[in-house]
Amino acid sequence: MKNSKRLIMAIESSCDDTGVCILSEGREIRANLLSSQIDIHNKFGGVVPEIASRKHLEVINPLIANALSEAGVDFSDLDAVAATIGPGLVGALLVGVSVAKAISFAMNIPFIGVNHLLGHIYSNFLIYPDLAPPFIVLLCSGGHTQIIHVRDYENFILIGNTLDDAAGEAFDKGARILELGYPGGPLIQKAAQDGDPNSVAFPRALRERDNFNFSFSGLKTSLLYHTRKHPDYNLADIAASYQEAIVDILVEKSFKAAKKLGVKNVIFAGGVASNKRLREKAQHKAVQWRYEAFFPPVQFCTDNAAMIASAAWHRFCKGDFDSLETPVNPSLKI
Ligand code: KG4
Ligand code: ZN
Repeated sequence: MKNSKRLIMAIESSCDDTGVCILSEGREIRANLLSSQIDIHNKFGGVVPEIASRKHLEVINPLIANALSEAGVDFSDLDAVAATIGPGLVGALLVGVSVAKAISFAMNIPFIGVNHLLGHIYSNFLIYPDLAPPFIVLLCSGGHTQIIHVRDYENFILIGNTLDDAAGEAFDKGARILELGYPGGPLIQKAAQDGDPNSVAFPRALRERDNFNFSFSGLKTSLLYHTRKHPDYNLADIAASYQEAIVDILVEKSFKAAKKLGVKNVIFAGGVASNKRLREKAQHKAVQWRYEAFFPPVQFCTDNAAMIASAAWHRFCKGDFDSLETPVNPSLKI
């Protein structure tokens, strides 16, 4: 007999992680599996697109089988299937989307193509059931750094964007300069642990009032020059100072945007939102200003399929499905 609770399977394959989630009634995670390629790409200091696509292909079917088995369900129990359609690497996206479309066709269930960026935002709804717009989102990942005013579930307004590198990219490039490896965020966070965040005065860009855009390329250059000038640098101190420069500006601008728009809830999303120092500083600011800061748990900040399932659930409830002709879009925007 078919399960009375509605089940969505979601697939994430936009970059270097393959994820499969089975979500019941939009909240209960019955399975959420992730196959990471970090060790493979680490050798190259960043994601190699062609290798990423091949690895997705290798792991996707076993991962789906394991997710179904862990959830104790079958393909015939699914009510819809979703996949990330963009933004991301085209070959990587195609793997997850093709598999999801095949399941949709074979099982005669709706297909929902999810914007990865919306997924990052919707990860918060898995954890905070009462969270509702309006709120400000700081979306900070490897490819994006944006401040978004979410006025209601349909109404997203871009308030600020990065003019060059994303915050995650600044961590990744910084880690490369410091010869720490990939991905840079967690490695810089670790190296910074006992460092002095005020030891090097790295620049904070675009600080003028009502400017909600970001720029991190000058910071990266400044780190490069500093390491060249002081080859005997103290790693902990320099990592802590570099991290501080990124975190400071992220917290400052997101709260200022909230203030300007009269919104008291500030939501953090994307891989960089797992940063400990960012969480500390945002929490501190929230208490100081009597605002509220929301963070998804770390496993929902970095790429995962549960966030894609969460975004798909909202579309499913509205009967908002996609045709099997829907293409992937590597540069999809919010
Ligand atoms: O959201 P995500 O997993 O993938 C994208 O959609 O880009 O974000 C990955 C980015 C990487 O740049 C990584 O260095 C960064 O998030 N990141 C962190 C931390 N964990 C991951 N940055 C700072 N601190 C962390 N703990
Ligand atoms: Zn992401």
